[in-house]
Amino acid sequence: MSRNDVLISGSHITKVFGYGKQKTTAVDDVNFTFHEGEIISIVGESGSGKTTLAKMIMGLLKETEGSVKYRGIPRYLKRHADRKSYWKDIQAIFQDPFSSFNLFYRVERLLLDCIKLRGLKLSREEQFHKMKEACSFVNLKFEELYNKYPFELSGGQMQRLMIARIFMLHPKLLIADEPTSMVDACSRSTILDMLLKLRDENNMTIIFITHDVGLAYYVSDTIYIMEKGKIVERGNAEDIILNPQHRYTQQLISDVPKIHSEWNLSSS
Ligand SMILES: Nc1ncnc2c1ncn2[C@@H]1O[C@H](COP(=O)(O)OP(=O)(O)O)[C@@H](O)[C@H]1O
Ligand SMILES: [Mg+2]
Repeated sequence: MSRNDVLISGSHITKVFGYGKQKTTAVDDVNFTFHEGEIISIVGESGSGKTTLAKMIMGLLKETEGSVKYRGIPRYLKRHADRKSYWKDIQAIFQDPFSSFNLFYRVERLLLDCIKLRGLKLSREEQFHKMKEACSFVNLKFEELYNKYPFELSGGQMQRLMIARIFMLHPKLLIADEPTSMVDACSRSTILDMLLKLRDENNMTIIFITHDVGLAYYVSDTIYIMEKGKIVERGNAEDIILNPQHRYTQQLISDVPKIHSEWNLSSS
């Protein structure tokens, strides 16, 4: 596949929770097209429907209306085998890294599981090589960490370990739902840079979900702005940030007056 091929697309994706007076339309008639090797940010305030959309893309939540195509073919997830093969291509990282690890496994086991998940048959030596390579990709030292439990790591180390696992699994699609909202500014830019590196090395498609339009500008090729379940504006990241058309986008941007100085970016 070349970089510009469409990996996944959705048309008229809608999710309604509840019935009658309790009804909430969390995602409302959303269309999207994401390409191989593209980093897309979905930006919106809390409650705008970002996580619900992400869960439907992951196939964890069934859409009320609409359909998803994966690699040009309608996605079908009814049978266990279909879900299994789809999920092989997809990984997610979340805000709270502790929620996605088995806390009773040591680092070595957490990394070994990735080798198992991919069904790779490797010698002990090859396994060590792979685990070390993944750790050095995220600037962690395997020798210092392999024997530790998740709760013995810092938040930043945990997030990096999560990215090491993604590096080992190399999925086609990575969904990162507010992965930096619980770490300090320094770890935040490290994580963003690692996402960029993952994309560059593996041609991964990355959906980066954030309420922070500044982070979206820093990391993405394409931005989708989400308000109350609807995509109100989408386009090339620079066009969206430098020339926002929609009132809601303008408001999000005016809330982050320091985009340029904070990230030391030029507008060219
Ligand atoms: N399982 C659920 N049941 C009912 N309502 C839900 C559920 N999940 C999310 N919602 C509602 O859908 C809307 C969008 O939520 P969410 O997708 O979590 O937004 P975001 O991730 O942008 O903060 C919110 O109004 C939320 O309360
Ligand atoms: Mg959310």
